Amino acid sequence: MRLSSIAYKTVMAISGLFLCLFLTVHLLGNLALFFPESVARTTFNAYADFLTHLPPIKIAAYLTYFAVLLHVAFAFTLTKRNRASAGQRYAYRGSVNTTSWYTRWMGVMGGILLLFIIIHMWNFWYPYKYGHDIALDANGKKDLYGIVVTSFASLTCVLFYVLAMVALGLHLYQGLHNGLRSLGLYHNRYSVWSRRLSKVFAIIVSVIFALMPIYIYLRG
Ligand code: HEM
Repeated sequence: MRLSSIAYKTVMAISGLFLCLFLTVHLLGNLALFFPESVARTTFNAYADFLTHLPPIKIAAYLTYFAVLLHVAFAFTLTKRNRASAGQRYAYRGSVNTTSWYTRWMGVMGGILLLFIIIHMWNFWYPYKYGHDIALDANGKKDLYGIVVTSFASLTCVLFYVLAMVALGLHLYQGLHNGLRSLGLYHNRYSVWSRRLSKVFAIIVSVIFALMPIYIYLRG
C-alpha cells in the first residue's frame, strides 16, 4: 500500500508531538539534577525507580520508542520520495537536482539527534535497566544519579550533549511549527502563533537540557 505524502506528514506530526510531550515530562523529571547533591541523589533515584515500576509509564515508554522509530522511518521514506520526485521535475526542466534547503537541514539535525538518542540510551538507560554492577543509594535504589554525574564529569561528554541540544533546539523550532501546520494550523493567523510557540518551546527545552551537563560539570 502506498500512502500519500499528506498521510506521511500527519503521522510524522502526531509522532513528533508525542515526542514533544515525552521531552516535557523528561525535562521536568530531570530538574531534580539541579537540587543540592544530597537531596538530588535520593530524589532522582526514587523518581526513576517509581517510573520503572509503574505499569502506565511502562506503556508510555514503549510508545516513546515506537514514536521515535516511526518518526525516523517516515522521515527517511518521505525524504527519499521527495528526492525522487524532485529528480523527475529537474530532469524534466533540464536544471540541477537539489533537495530543498529545509529537507536537508531537518535531515541533518534529525540525524544528529538519532545518534544522540542511541548514545544517550547506551550511557544511561542500558546500564540502569540491564547493568549488573550498578551501585545502590542510601535507600537501596539503583544509583542512576551516580551514573549521570560520572558521565558529566567528562568534558567530551558535556560538549557532545550541548551540541546535541543545539541540534534539538533547531529541530524543534522548525519541526514543531511544521507539525502544527500539517495538523491544520496553516492559516496565517494560527501560523504566527505556531511559530512563536515553537520558538519558545525549542528555546526552553534545549537550553534547560543543555544546562544540566554544564551545571554538573562545573559543580564538580
Ligand atoms: C542533559 C539532558 C538529559 C539527561 C540528563 C537525561 C537523562 C536520562 C536518564 C538518566 C535516562 C534513564 C532513565 C530511565 O531509563 O528510567 C534517560 C532516558 C531517556 N532519555 Fe534522556 N536525558 C537528557 C536529555 C534527553 C533528550 C534531549 C532526549 C531526546 C532527544 C532524551 C531521550 C531519552 C529517552 C528516549 C530515554 C529512554 C526513556 C525510557 O525508557 O522511558 N533524553 N535520560
